[in-house]
Amino acid sequence: MESKETMVIPEHVALILDGNGRWAKKRGLPRTMGHKEGCVTVEKTVEIAARMGIRYLTVYGFSTENWKRSVEEVGALMQLFRFYMVRLLKIAKANNVRVKMIGERSRFDKDIVDGINRLERETRDNTGLTFVIAVNYGGRDEIVRAARKLAADVEAGIRNKDEITEQTFASYLDTADIPDPDLLIRTSGELRLSNYLLWQLAYTEIYVTDCLWPDFNKEELEKAIAAYNKRDRRFGGVKTT
Ligand code: IPE
Ligand code: IPE
Ligand code: MG
Repeated sequence: MESKETMVIPEHVALILDGNGRWAKKRGLPRTMGHKEGCVTVEKTVEIAARMGIRYLTVYGFSTENWKRSVEEVGALMQLFRFYMVRLLKIAKANNVRVKMIGERSRFDKDIVDGINRLERETRDNTGLTFVIAVNYGGRDEIVRAARKLAADVEAGIRNKDEITEQTFASYLDTADIPDPDLLIRTSGELRLSNYLLWQLAYTEIYVTDCLWPDFNKEELEKAIAAYNKRDRRFGGVKTT
């Protein structure tokens, strides 16, 4: 393994935090206890990533498909958002972290939307880690919303259809101004994207660990980064060295 000193720190790490339910089940606890513990791990991971010098950390918190879960589980997740949003504001301020939300926020209750807006507003001038939370996020939904906004601009004469390039299209996505992820980490062993960042992950290195999200820690993150350092990113070209 390369020494920590010589490791290249990826600029943007994307995370699919999975396994809260399994973590709870293993302990005979309700699934919601797994989510609660998972929130603590998110807080810790933000601090660890900020200290490591990662520039962007994007975490999948709630997908457009997660509404299919029971009313009790969705309700418990909303309560956790409410609680942890307040804590996150403190953590962000203490660690010079800028918070940004991606996803379609109008489906949330007004107080949650207000909380998200406040988090973004009060941390927007921070210059350290950008912590991106994907809630009510789906890659396909994001692409469709971007296509609609772009079509409206073309219709209004703001843009010409010949101007539509990969770059202009990307500027209509929720992640406009955020570079594509270098490394994707998925916890709990599942080998799928689950509708996460479909456009942005085109050339991202993928790392899957069996570790359940509530058990994720600094060592696990370092293992993922060490594996990333062994990858040979070619972006469709041919390696010359
Ligand atoms: C991830 O954990 C958290 C969310 C999707 C909200 P899960 O709740 O999916 O946990 P498992 O996959 O059932 O173990
Ligand atoms: C992906 O996890 C979504 C989030 C982590 C928020 P899921 O648990 O919802 O994914 P599937 O159902 O296993 O594909
Ligand atoms: Mg899951």
